[in-house]
Amino acid sequence: MVKLIGKKKIPCAVFISGRGSNLKSIFNYSKKKRSIFHVKLVISNKSKVLGVRFAKNNKIETIVVNYKNKKRAEEQILKYLKKNKIKLVCLAGFMKILSKNFIKYFKNKIINIHPSLLPKYKGLNTHERAINNNETFSGCTVHFVSAKLDSGKIILQKKVKILKSDNPSRLAKRILLVENKLYPKAIEKVLSRI
Ligand code: GRF
Repeated sequence: MVKLIGKKKIPCAVFISGRGSNLKSIFNYSKKKRSIFHVKLVISNKSKVLGVRFAKNNKIETIVVNYKNKKRAEEQILKYLKKNKIKLVCLAGFMKILSKNFIKYFKNKIINIHPSLLPKYKGLNTHERAINNNETFSGCTVHFVSAKLDSGKIILQKKVKILKSDNPSRLAKRILLVENKLYPKAIEKVLSRI
């Protein structure tokens, strides 16, 4: 375990597009004494979402980026990441695909959470597809972001049993609770190795 005696916590950014339950759990964890990181910056492509409200209420620097022009949006994001000396980018429900150049620039420093047991069920509607395929388990995965969607190296993964009574939204709710616990642990794991 990395101890931060006399050292500052490592600055991280969280990218969101919506509700922000993972942002909240990451932030709450970061406030603990034992945490080695802090949430320095939140980036969102949407202004009126719960996650942005949470970030502002908690006085986290929050940038809402206009994504009409992707190149310009990413340039703006990079500027803020550099300015804040961000060491790790955590995608948490961020619904924009980052360009290859952006990913290259931040190689091995961008991670994402996905609501399935990767490599199964990349992309959207994961819960529905897992139920329709009669899977016994689904779950969630934190992985490095690579140029190919939902395909980077896995950092941590947790299984969740699919119940007979499950529908996609019930399963999503149970998995989300597991995601919220898994994500901060994955961040600590990645940061303790750099
Ligand atoms: C989560 O289910 C995550 O796995 C997916 O998007 C959702 C974001 O939820 N990538 P929240 O905004 O963190 O509540």
